[in-house]
Amino acid sequence: MKDFVRILRRFVPPYRRYLVWNVVFNLLAAVLNLFSFVLIIPILNVLFKMDNTQYEYMEIRWEVLSADFWHSAFGLLKNNFFAWMNGLMNTHGGSFTLIALGAFLIGMTFFKAAATYFAFYTMIPIRTGVVRDIRNSINRKITQLSLGFFSEERKGDILARVSGDVNEIENSIMSSLDMLFKNPILIAIYLAGMIIISWQLTLFVLILLPLAGYVMGQVGKTLKRKSLAGQELWGALMSQVEETLGGLRIIKAFNAEEKIRARFEKSNEAFRRLTNRIYRRQQMSQPMSEFLGTATIAIVLWYGGNLILSNNSPIDAPTFIYYLVIFYSIINPAKDLSKAAYSIQKGLASMIRIDRILTAEVTVRDPERPQPITLDREIVYNNVWFKYRDEWILKGIDLHIPKGKTIALVGQSGSGKSTLVDLLPRFYDVTEGSITIDGTDIRDARIYDLRALMGNVNQEAILFNNSFYDNIAFGVSNASPEEVEQAARIANAHDFIIASEDGYLTNIGDRGCKLSGGQRQRISIARAILKNPPALILDEATSALDAESERLVQEALDNLMRNRTTIVIAHRLSTIKNADEICVLHEGRIVERGRHEELLALNGFYKRLCDMQSF
Ligand SMILES: Nc1ncnc2c1ncn2[C@@H]1O[C@H](COP(=O)(O)OP(=O)(O)O)[C@@H](O)[C@H]1O
Ligand SMILES: [Mg+2]
Repeated sequence: MKDFVRILRRFVPPYRRYLVWNVVFNLLAAVLNLFSFVLIIPILNVLFKMDNTQYEYMEIRWEVLSADFWHSAFGLLKNNFFAWMNGLMNTHGGSFTLIALGAFLIGMTFFKAAATYFAFYTMIPIRTGVVRDIRNSINRKITQLSLGFFSEERKGDILARVSGDVNEIENSIMSSLDMLFKNPILIAIYLAGMIIISWQLTLFVLILLPLAGYVMGQVGKTLKRKSLAGQELWGALMSQVEETLGGLRIIKAFNAEEKIRARFEKSNEAFRRLTNRIYRRQQMSQPMSEFLGTATIAIVLWYGGNLILSNNSPIDAPTFIYYLVIFYSIINPAKDLSKAAYSIQKGLASMIRIDRILTAEVTVRDPERPQPITLDREIVYNNVWFKYRDEWILKGIDLHIPKGKTIALVGQSGSGKSTLVDLLPRFYDVTEGSITIDGTDIRDARIYDLRALMGNVNQEAILFNNSFYDNIAFGVSNASPEEVEQAARIANAHDFIIASEDGYLTNIGDRGCKLSGGQRQRISIARAILKNPPALILDEATSALDAESERLVQEALDNLMRNRTTIVIAHRLSTIKNADEICVLHEGRIVERGRHEELLALNGFYKRLCDMQSF
């Protein structure tokens, strides 16, 4: 329950005013309900002719009320109502009186139903609003978290949290919210009514109810634990689907369909088994509360009936029936309340999972007092050490890149080249040492300013399901169509863009799947050209391409690199030869550096890489 209140305090405050209205309407509904039930007493009196007292109108005076307010007010009201009814009976007969009572009941019920509806009505914006806010904060958090977070938390699992867990919260917690505010109000008002009628009887009832409540509570506890495990399995399942979708080509090529299928079906079966157990437990709440409710009624019936039969009862039979009706009306809200408690347990499990994202520490952060950063002189790596987890990936990197120069990084796959360049835009932070731009540590600058300094072209062009135009203008908010076209021309992309159906407005499909590798790459180069950053990071930008598109892309790249400070990880000798300095990376260290001829002359790592044509 504590967790639940914490969630409410976190997410509900913006919707406070709806909550106030909700409480008002719920109170109204409960009171109206109580007053419509009260008609059962005169109706029974009429039908069974049980009460032969001749009631007289009594004036409402303060002296009468003051001593025992509720009791005397209730008595006065009852007296005058009965006097009115007696009058009706005497002048129009019993049948007409029943009609009048019926009309009264209909009227009351109408207002009660309206109040109940408005109570729900005011709850809807809260429910949808909270869910929207949670989704927004997850999404915001995802963009804030450093890349490191996502190598540990698999994408499919995160997807499962955004979809499954948020839905679970909507379905279990938020749908319970109205019950949670409505039912305690109903119960309190009904209880008040019961106490007014007979406190002795109510005292007896109050001993019974918590007993029933305790039994129900026990079942809820295990439900939460199981639900947590269930959502976890669901996340794993979604990860597999994500992996299968991404790797479909390889799965087919290696005839691994059967293997993948078996793996999925195994997880799916485990999920089903756990879900079985969850549902079974969940379904227990209904019959159990039904049973406990009826048992309680039976006990009250026995106790109250005995009181009436004993002849010195504080209430008469019709009032006892009214009492039972109210009590019966308490059972339902109490049942709903316990049901809400169940589903809240389920929802809390989802909230825990979502919180693992929301509370994850953002490791790459803006500094407290950010300093301005510009690239006028140089980028320097000072004795940089880095590890993702336990193993050192970069070991004491020293690198000096003067403005306008090009540095080429070569080395076997896995030697740490990509890692080295990922540190510059602070995708990860150095573990030891520092990186400075014009003497400013990059951790002392605003991340936004730092990344504004550089453009990125990677081996895999990352495009979005959008038009050519939007993909090229991705990093620039106010690009004119002329500028976009200009960038596309320089990137050798203009021709194939205008050859497409809607020109620049053509949608390129999911991740640009309608384009060839070379076309995708030229779009991402155009994007970098438009951004026009002083520094450039090219990570194997041409290695995934065939010779023909490679030529076009290389041209585009040469255009892009002109007059820019560039770190290039390349597999093409020509790119490497033109670099101002070549650094050979081997197991996280720069083992050789210099120009092409110098390095060849060393007859070491570089010579071997060149001979094998493997950069
Ligand atoms: N996100 C990551 N988490 C953990 N280890 C990683 C991650 N990315 C790369 N590595 C490891 O770091 C080493 C260097 O990788 P990388 O920088 O990609 O090399 P290169 O680009 O030279 O091929 C490899 O051993 C790789 O397994
Ligand atoms: Mg790499």
